[in-house]
Amino acid sequence: QDDIFKNVVSHAKEYGFIFPSSEIYDGLSAVYDYAQNGVELKKNIRDYWWKSMVQMHENIVGLDASILMHPTTWKASGHVDAFNDPLIDNKDSKKRYRADVLIEDYAEKLNQKAQKEIDKARTRFGEAFNETEFVTTNERVKGYLEQKNTILQRMARSLETENLADVKALIEELEIACPDSGSKNWTDVKQFNLMFGTKLGASAESAMDLYLRPETAQGIFVNFLNVQKTGRMKIPFGIAQTGKAFRNEIVARQFIFRMREFEQMEMQFFVKPGEEMKYYEFWKETRLNWHLSLGLGRQNYRFHDHEKLAHYANAAADIEFNFPFGFKELEGIHSRTDFDLKAHEQFSGKKLQYFDTETNANYTPYVVETSIGLDRMFLAVFSNSLQEETLEDGSTRTVLRLPSVLAPTKAAVLPLLKKEGLPEIAHKIIEDLRWDFNVAYDEKDAIGRRYRRQDALGTPFCITVDHQTIEDETVTIRHRDSMKQDRVKISELRNIINTEVSM
Ligand code: GAP
Repeated sequence: QDDIFKNVVSHAKEYGFIFPSSEIYDGLSAVYDYAQNGVELKKNIRDYWWKSMVQMHENIVGLDASILMHPTTWKASGHVDAFNDPLIDNKDSKKRYRADVLIEDYAEKLNQKAQKEIDKARTRFGEAFNETEFVTTNERVKGYLEQKNTILQRMARSLETENLADVKALIEELEIACPDSGSKNWTDVKQFNLMFGTKLGASAESAMDLYLRPETAQGIFVNFLNVQKTGRMKIPFGIAQTGKAFRNEIVARQFIFRMREFEQMEMQFFVKPGEEMKYYEFWKETRLNWHLSLGLGRQNYRFHDHEKLAHYANAAADIEFNFPFGFKELEGIHSRTDFDLKAHEQFSGKKLQYFDTETNANYTPYVVETSIGLDRMFLAVFSNSLQEETLEDGSTRTVLRLPSVLAPTKAAVLPLLKKEGLPEIAHKIIEDLRWDFNVAYDEKDAIGRRYRRQDALGTPFCITVDHQTIEDETVTIRHRDSMKQDRVKISELRNIINTEVSM
């Protein structure tokens, strides 16, 4: 699994999808740049989301609120007081850990240790291992793991209930129970606020402390009544938005899974109080179907219903995806009650209520939100699509089987030779198709190598111009996934490509 993940990261770089940010200065951790192909794939994912959420719903409209907001926004939303991660420092190694990640790390370390024990016994007993030692070794290792896992589970529970002193005590207990991990010197568990601060204003005295938004949602809540009134929206209705969010994440690993600057695609759906559970279920199902429509495989998704709820929610679930490092959160669906609108009403002193023309009464709507990380979605699509195949002749090919609607380039036009008028015809085909799709031109290298390059870039079609083209205006069109080639008229190309790539 580690190897698969390494492949994903290096393929993303080698083929111009994702680079580390400011790489010439050795990069900035958990910050990445989208390169020439990455930016297209990312845009297509965003468009695919926008089309299904905004264009396809009569009662959902878009918004593009600013990243900087009045600082009181974050007091009202609860982020100043409650948007924290539990942290623990190790005085020996001077390293800083997020306490829940530390628990995960311990669990992994213990499993590795158990596996080592079994391997050792296997080597020691050779052929006889299965009959004689297997049972006893297994039992011993199982007992050992059970004991340590109980401590880990208690740690996780203490963390959930924010009993931070207990977490520290349990870490120490684990260090003693697991002596070969070395004695470590832990500090108390502290809460660390994840918001990035910045300043507005020129002089030190008058400057105002601001935050970079940690979620896009608040831009929607503060604009709720503006949109509702000017759009003459009737409940239930939604406001959708995509945009950057910033979090000073303590754990910066797993590539674009957890970034310090990332993009969210969120939709807040305003409903009548009492109807929120109906819409919560509706959006859970609708969002899962959106994912399934991309064809990455039903087995790669599962729901995780939250037991511990955020300060604003009365129900919450994640759609988890099977990333190269296991099932992890990809999207959240949250029933946020009237928490946010009420809080903004209280802090701003402005009414944020809906006037129901049928009952002639005001009320504060409840909100069901769907929230997905665009970069995380990118990682899901990209890692799932990257495949190594062994072909019939025994050779291997790397192919990025991206859903065609999301592919950065829909077709590559390739003249068989760099002469005899073939490049000119290829360029003419491009001139004609580029109004509808992203089309690329490539004349470098032998044709087989050019096909492989397009496979690795995820291009669904290769169009080859050869000598027959001069005679009868036909080309070959090669399909990325099946590698099948058909001879078709140039005039048919647009329709053929369109059938597969249109959203
Ligand atoms: N408005 C609700 C909200 O922000 P969240 O669960 O904190 O909820 C929603 O974030 C989604 O944003 C997550 O499911 C994830 O896909 C994405 N996300 C959150 N933090 C992220 C990070 N540091 N890097 C990349 N994506 C992130």
